[in-house]
Amino acid sequence: MLTKPSPSDWVKAARFYDTEVEETEYVPLARFIREERRALREIVGSLGPDLLVLEFGSGTGRVLLDLISHPRVGQKIGLAIGIDISPSMIAAAREKRDIYRGRNFQKIVFLHLNALAASAVFGGRKIDLASVSRANGNGPELVRAEGRIVPRCKRVVISALNTIGVFDPRRKSAYLREMIRSAGIGGTIVVSSFDRTAFARYAGELYRSVPAIIEYTGTISPFMRNETAELSKPGYYSRWYDHFDLISTLKELGCSEISSRKLAPLGNIILARSKST
Ligand SMILES: C[S@@+](CC[C@H](N)C(=O)[O-])C[C@H]1O[C@@H](n2cnc3c(N)ncnc32)[C@H](O)[C@@H]1O
Repeated sequence: MLTKPSPSDWVKAARFYDTEVEETEYVPLARFIREERRALREIVGSLGPDLLVLEFGSGTGRVLLDLISHPRVGQKIGLAIGIDISPSMIAAAREKRDIYRGRNFQKIVFLHLNALAASAVFGGRKIDLASVSRANGNGPELVRAEGRIVPRCKRVVISALNTIGVFDPRRKSAYLREMIRSAGIGGTIVVSSFDRTAFARYAGELYRSVPAIIEYTGTISPFMRNETAELSKPGYYSRWYDHFDLISTLKELGCSEISSRKLAPLGNIILARSKST
């Protein structure tokens, strides 16, 4: 049974998100999430060892915690960094990580988008991480991260559960460009997203306007506050990418070795290699 968090209780609000996602009774979404988790484990497991895994829009850390705590996949990861714009999501992710404290838990950090100021985290340079740490008053968290970044390690940058779908269409390319830049030369980009055609066909009723979400959860993230007007427009989801748009945008941005697999029935997971020169 879901409980409604009070607007000020952000950690609960973010937990509410987990319940909603992980325990959804909505069959198409449940299947998508199950298959996405399996695919991400497979992909990351096949790319390691010594991977630097970045997740853009890591939310409550569902995906990264799943990867890092998996016995075989977790050991392929040198460091996992989740970045999000919502402080409540970051707080919930850190709390979950600290409660978990299991295998490999020291190899995972969650940072607010501000910290990325430092193109730093994304550049993967130790010195920048240290300065980000001071600037954000998050010393211990980032100091732990520092030193674990292997300068020449392989990178994989993940966007999971349709995070790209929450962006204004005008900003989607910028988001992908940032993923590619962060993946570094020859890095891997993994985008899991709903396909607008499949979504409309199988799960149109899952779409909820932002005011409806706020009424339901009693809270609103800073991201949503800025984007409310845009997201609330009827038919917003119909402007999500379809599979072919996403692939051609990645090609235009210079990615190679692009492949995709269907996550039944709502969307796809697309794998691309960033520029190798
Ligand atoms: C659909 S949720 C997915 C969360 C997570 N990837 C998962 O699989 O559970 C989208 C997340 O992206 C975050 N987000 C939205 N805009 C962002 C931005 N510009 N930069 C970083 N994170 C952002 C939101 O706060 C939210 O946590």
